[in-house]
Amino acid sequence: MTRPDAGPTSAGPTSAGPTSAGGPVADRATAGFRQRYGEQPVGHWAAPGRANLIGEHTDYNDGFVLPFALSLRTVVAAAGQPGEVWTACSELAREPVEFTADDLAEPGRVTGWGAYVAGVVWALREAGHTVPGARLAIASDVPLGSGLSSSAALEAAVLAALVDLGGLDLPAAQQPRLAQRAENEYVGAPTGIMDQSAVIRCREGHALFLDCRTEAVEHIPFDLDAAGLAMLVIDSRAPHRHADGEYAARRASCEQAARALGVPALRDVPADGLADALTRLPDDETRRRVRHVVTEDQRVLDTVALLRAGRIRDVGPLLTASHDSMRDDFEITVPEVDTAVRAALSAGALGARMTGGGFGGCVLALVEAASADPVVAAVTSAYAERGFTAPGHVTVLPAPGATRL
Ligand code: GLA
Repeated sequence: MTRPDAGPTSAGPTSAGPTSAGGPVADRATAGFRQRYGEQPVGHWAAPGRANLIGEHTDYNDGFVLPFALSLRTVVAAAGQPGEVWTACSELAREPVEFTADDLAEPGRVTGWGAYVAGVVWALREAGHTVPGARLAIASDVPLGSGLSSSAALEAAVLAALVDLGGLDLPAAQQPRLAQRAENEYVGAPTGIMDQSAVIRCREGHALFLDCRTEAVEHIPFDLDAAGLAMLVIDSRAPHRHADGEYAARRASCEQAARALGVPALRDVPADGLADALTRLPDDETRRRVRHVVTEDQRVLDTVALLRAGRIRDVGPLLTASHDSMRDDFEITVPEVDTAVRAALSAGALGARMTGGGFGGCVLALVEAASADPVVAAVTSAYAERGFTAPGHVTVLPAPGATRL
């Protein structure tokens, strides 16, 4: 979900001077490390933010998602230190955090941004790993609180560093569950498996088709450039309004509905069984929640089929249908994102939708490469007309998942 503090919504500062192979973010992590600990890190580990192409609020219903990684990323510069002591500083936080094995006895002792770091150490230890003490310095271009998974990026980068520093036996395919456990049980946010899977398992030039029940993945080619297309990520700048409580409420409502229907999860309601399932639900609100999840799973499958056939343009209407379903049935959009989607479509976007958990965050707009500027202009002017804070935007391509630099 979101990190506790709001942050920059641009692609982050770019350094004017020459940079290392890891780029400006890695350089900032190195500088932070040297300044805090007075020595060089032994290595750098990076994990990206993510956007979800389609499949929203389907992950915790055991369904399907199709995210891709962003080139905006979080970098951890790290080195071991003796004993069971972990120290972390971040360019985004004034105070460093330090904790020992005793502080990890139960969740809740380390709070704020440090909880994401402590949660990863805690989850590794819970899984039986011997985690080496470490010093970490964090730098990031993933905007905070914009629905691009800055928290999963932080968890995954810290996890990658600790796995390597400790020589731990934890294959990448098993890392998402562990990072999710850190977020669910240590930080206390009841999220699904999508974000951690995306930031760890995505591949450059591909979207990640993930079955959230089995965790089977397929890397689906998603070459926007070759198709003459662009993907805009528009930051709605909408303040998150009660996002955490509303997220938990949606999740509870889906779980109740599955129980009422006698299935393990809403994924088990087939699209052609939806009409019948709806007649067996007690109230209109629950019916709409279920309709969103079941139709959204189907839209993911349809999107994957189109991408496999090389028909990227035809995905547009599915994106827009997903947005309408989130707005009308799942009720997780806000005026800013609805405005951005409408304006983008009216300026020629092939499809547009809010991405992520909702109640603000970012909008994806799939556009012909030549239409990117007019679409941004249309959204900006629609915002001005309504008196909203001007939106941010960045053009993205599918990037790789977590890696050692
Ligand atoms: C947040 C959660 C994910 C997922 C999305 C909605 O990003 O972290 O697990 O549920 O919302 O699709």
